[in-house]
Amino acid sequence: MKITVIGTGYVGLVTGACLAQVGNQVLCIDVDADKVARLRDGIIPIHEPDLPAVVQEGIVGGRLTFSTDIAAGVEHGEFLFIAVGTPPDEDGSADLRHVLAVADAVGRHIQRPAIVINKSTVPVGTAQKVRERIAAALRERDTTIPFEVVSNPEFLKEGAAVDDFMKPDRIIVGTDSEAVRERMRALYAPFNRNHDRLIFMDPASAELTKYAANVMLATKISLMNELAGLAEHLGADIEEVRRGIGADPRIGYSFIYPGCGYGGSCFPKDVRALEYSARQHHYEAPLLAAVESVNNRQKRVLEHKLVDALGEDLKGLSIALWGLAFKPNTDDMREAPSRVLMEGLWRRGAHVQAYDPAAMDETRRIYGERADLQLCADPYAACQGADALVICTEWQVFRSPDFNRLKELLRRPLIIDGRNLYDPARLRKAGFAYHGIGRS
Ligand code: UDX
Repeated sequence: MKITVIGTGYVGLVTGACLAQVGNQVLCIDVDADKVARLRDGIIPIHEPDLPAVVQEGIVGGRLTFSTDIAAGVEHGEFLFIAVGTPPDEDGSADLRHVLAVADAVGRHIQRPAIVINKSTVPVGTAQKVRERIAAALRERDTTIPFEVVSNPEFLKEGAAVDDFMKPDRIIVGTDSEAVRERMRALYAPFNRNHDRLIFMDPASAELTKYAANVMLATKISLMNELAGLAEHLGADIEEVRRGIGADPRIGYSFIYPGCGYGGSCFPKDVRALEYSARQHHYEAPLLAAVESVNNRQKRVLEHKLVDALGEDLKGLSIALWGLAFKPNTDDMREAPSRVLMEGLWRRGAHVQAYDPAAMDETRRIYGERADLQLCADPYAACQGADALVICTEWQVFRSPDFNRLKELLRRPLIIDGRNLYDPARLRKAGFAYHGIGRS
């Protein structure tokens, strides 16, 4: 099949590369000429396991090509994926400028029938808006070319994106047309072999499904974090509580890990965008606001624990920080708890000695060279002479460090663990002051 993917960010690039992998002829379009040039050489702008190999295979096999020419892109595909960004506006609403600009371009350049597939996370009603924009552009050209607009949100997780695309747990397709359902079934057949993962519904429900999934997961995390804070006051251990409630299959073990707050490109943005939608429709949605405010508070918890241990004024102190990415296996630092922590520490005059297995370049890009930030070569170098070690991200490499060595390197044996990686009793026995989340 001939497929065009417009937008080569996380979602677009993974979608394009995986669709090429199964034999389709995929043309990926992006406005950023530098990015397109690098992608043609197989240079991937993001850290994502398996993606470089899949992209390379597509390029070498001649099935995956890149261009900045949107007219050629619209010409190429019988399926046209819209996978451009929907960054949040000041007020939290999703900015649809890029999505609608693509719709205009499709309307201007389309020459034969096509299915336009919206993969970007967009507010309910956007499929309808895209349809109207394409129709308006066609009217201006004085032609009628049949086209359909489908909502097909992506559920990939950073760090497991290729796997999520190749082996999806569901493929949501929002369309009211029987003919389109059949075409979409054919498109996704290679990823839908063992169990039928396709779930068809109307476009508005498909759009809301994406937000509902992310908001449900964010709610689980915020509720756990709120319970963790309460557990500290009550002298309970949230890790025991987690095991106790996870055993109930109605609750389940996943996404109930307390921590230092959720980050990333999806949860914070989508919770806010849905809240905004509710406000727009004069519908009260107090839970959504609470999920966000609990998360904002949680991102400050590590700083507060440090202050409890070291005092309000951190001038002249050095803090070792393990983990900068918002979660392991990515270099993405969007809305990462580490940023809130570092910025808080700097305000208090502390010096940060940080290490992350993947996000060092990204940290440099965001903060530049500054006297109060030292990016260290390895986890131990970060602890050299530090007054405390704080853990923000649960990278595997942090799970079993040499505690004796840590004790020698740290100026004070203080560990604040935002991911509950260690056994408190063991650490105390080893002579550390150890503070996790929701346990004492
Ligand atoms: C998420 C959704 O999982 C995905 O389906 C959607 O398409 C995009 O958003 P992603 O942002 O890549 O994916 O990250 P995810 O692995 O879901 O983690 C999100 C955040 O929640 C991270 O900051 C993580 O540390 C935090 N988290 C996750 C917890 O604090 N506790 C948990 O139990 C699980």
